[in-house]
Amino acid sequence: MVSWTYVELEDVGSTQAIAKSLASMGATEGTVVVAKSQSFGEGRLGRTWLSPPGGLYMSIVLRPNSLSKPELIPLVSAVAVVKGVEQATGVLGRIRWPNDVMVKTKKLAGVLSEAQSYKGEVTQVVVGIGLNCNAPIAASTDLKESATSLMEELGKQVQVAELKHSVLDAFSELYDELQKGANMMPVWKQHFGTLGKPVSVKLKTGENPFTCKAIEVDSDGGLVVEGEKGNQVVHTGDLEWLKELS
Ligand code: BTN
Repeated sequence: MVSWTYVELEDVGSTQAIAKSLASMGATEGTVVVAKSQSFGEGRLGRTWLSPPGGLYMSIVLRPNSLSKPELIPLVSAVAVVKGVEQATGVLGRIRWPNDVMVKTKKLAGVLSEAQSYKGEVTQVVVGIGLNCNAPIAASTDLKESATSLMEELGKQVQVAELKHSVLDAFSELYDELQKGANMMPVWKQHFGTLGKPVSVKLKTGENPFTCKAIEVDSDGGLVVEGEKGNQVVHTGDLEWLKELS
C-alpha cells in the first residue's frame, strides 16, 4: 500500500506545479500536495481548472519504477475518484473516457496525469485530482450546463477531508493491484459510462470532431471507437474532447 506524506496548504497557484517541483527535488512516492484553493489550477490539454475554496485539490507524486503499464495510472486514478466519492457520499459517478468523472451528463471531477521518463522508463508521475465539493458552480459561466458539485447533487455540504481520505484509500488499493500486474479491465468497465455510447471525438491534429461509437478500452487504456472508416484506437494524448451525445 502507498504510504502518504501530506503537504497541506491554503491558497496556492497550483498543487500540480508544487508537486512537480517537490518531485524534481526528490519527493518520495506517496507525497500528496493538498490545497484549499488554487489561483492557477491546471486542467488537461492546457485548460484551467477553476479552484475556489470548498473543493478538493490534490496532486500525488508516484514513482512507478516497476510498473509494466504506467500509462494506466490516469484511468486507475479516475476509478479511485469514483470509488472514493461513492464510499464517502453515496454519489454514483461514472467515467467519461479517459478520466473525467461524471454524474449523469455533468462533470464532477477531473484528473491530470503528468509523467516524466528517463531512458524510456517512466520514473515519475504526478496525478492531479480536482473534485467539485462545496463550491457552487459559477452561474455566470457555461460550466453551469456541463459541471456539477457534490453539494449540488446532495443538497448539503460534504466533508472534504473525509473525501480526500476515501479517494486516497481507493487509489492505494487500485495502485497496489496495478503494481501486482492485476487485470484492471473489469473494475474500469464497471465504472465506465462511455462504452456502447455514441460519442463525438476531436483529435488534437485540428481535425473536425467525428461521431462514432465507443466499443472497448484496450489493454493500454486506449479507447477503441467504431466509426464510418471502421475501428480506430484513440489514445489520451490525441483526444481534445469526448462528449456523450445522449
Ligand atoms: C481536467 O482537466 O479534467 C483535469 C483537472 C485537474 C485539476 C487538478 S486540481 C489539483 C491539481 N492541481 C492542478 O493545478 N490541477 C490538478
